[in-house]
Amino acid sequence: MSKEIPGPKTRAVLERGVPLFLNGLNYEKEATRAARRGFRAASQLVIDRAKGDFIWDVDGNKFIDFQNGWATNPLGNAHPEIIEAVTKAFERYGFHYDHPLRYELAEKLAGIMPGNKLPRFSYEVSGTEAAESAVYMAMCYKRRRHVISFSSSYHGNSIGTKVMSGGAPEYKPYLEGWRGGVISAPFPYSDHVPAGMTEEQYSDYCLWYIDTHIPASVAAKDNIAAVLIEPGLAEGGNWIPNKVFLQGIRKICDKNSWLMIADEVLTGLGRTGKMWAVEHYDVIPDIMVVGKNLSGGIEPCAGVAARDEILGDNPEFTAGSTFAGTPAGCAAGLKTLEIFERDNVVEHAAKLTEIAEGIMSSWERKYEIVRQVRGNGLLIGVSFQSPEGKDEDANWWYSRAVRGQMLQNGVWAISDREDTIRMYPALNMEEKTLRDGLAVMEEAIAKINREGQNVGDSPAWPTGVAGF
Ligand SMILES: Cc1ncc(COP(=O)(O)O)c(C=O)c1O
Repeated sequence: MSKEIPGPKTRAVLERGVPLFLNGLNYEKEATRAARRGFRAASQLVIDRAKGDFIWDVDGNKFIDFQNGWATNPLGNAHPEIIEAVTKAFERYGFHYDHPLRYELAEKLAGIMPGNKLPRFSYEVSGTEAAESAVYMAMCYKRRRHVISFSSSYHGNSIGTKVMSGGAPEYKPYLEGWRGGVISAPFPYSDHVPAGMTEEQYSDYCLWYIDTHIPASVAAKDNIAAVLIEPGLAEGGNWIPNKVFLQGIRKICDKNSWLMIADEVLTGLGRTGKMWAVEHYDVIPDIMVVGKNLSGGIEPCAGVAARDEILGDNPEFTAGSTFAGTPAGCAAGLKTLEIFERDNVVEHAAKLTEIAEGIMSSWERKYEIVRQVRGNGLLIGVSFQSPEGKDEDANWWYSRAVRGQMLQNGVWAISDREDTIRMYPALNMEEKTLRDGLAVMEEAIAKINREGQNVGDSPAWPTGVAGF
């Protein structure tokens, strides 16, 4: 099967966006830039219909969905029971701030937090707001001005979360003066271990930097409120920290009286095959940021869970916004958790993980262009390298070429900024669909591995900057 991706209707819609949207304005420039660097800008899909494990674009092409609304549809696309629950909430309450569902969902969440140690909850609309709010909560509670966050981390797109996120300076120009109390620390990437170091030595160095270098040279330890960490950097390239590192962060926080904030917006609620990613590490944070999956893929719902005393007695802290904890958002969260329990969704995700690992574990050995297969549960990343040992652009070319080939053959994955293809299958995906999707991916890898840059089946028509 080979499709024209993007098809004529998709192109027409994307072209309508040229005068309307940010990426529309950048569109031609970026496409030219992509062409100059030797690769086609990655294809973009415009969704016409979404159901369960599949999506259809406006040209009628059907795809297995490994993109998953950016890891936001834990039970697949447009889950009918969640839509029904949300519709009922709309019909009954419209929008009002206070309603029984916000209490019910907070109670439910308290019951599933790691170790039952984070019983209080503060609602927010998005993961971005929740991440900011968590940091401010820690600062007010500790009455301290600094927070430590990590290179390549991603916490959102507001000014506050941009400066707390790692990532390249191009992602946050003009905000240099807004960094305020944010201290950036190195994260131990498994794929970029400095020459001469083992992976263990590298992660020890990162811990040393936080525990020793920062208090000695950057900020007094008594003025640091918290360490903000994703227990699995997702947007930054699906980097998974090792156990020693995350447990080391917990120990350092305890030793220095800093709070540990786990941003589980993407890793949380089953994405890693456990309810929370921190459970893989036997670590309980003091504060946890939640979003994405809690929406059931239907209606925004996010927030911050915290230890009793942090939210129970924190008079200076204020947070929230008009639409934080809407009836419809809480209904989506409640129904999602009900289905998780009823259908053993987290266990199913763990089973899918085993299947994916079984299929993918040989790829590094089999294909020269595959640099690393990594992940935690259904947070899956495959990074690529140029066999000719060329520069970063060449690595990017390979990830985009593989993704393009996957699209041609009916599988939708993300390759947005990096040499990495990222995938977030629904946690309740049919086993067969997962196997089919990974078979398509392996075929695509084999083809690009074999034919290299001579591969000639991606469309010449450039369709935007990022592959999402
Ligand atoms: C770890 C993490 N934190 C925060 C956010 C921001 O969430 P949202 O896009 O819902 O504002 C994201 C989004 O991808 C994320 O991955």
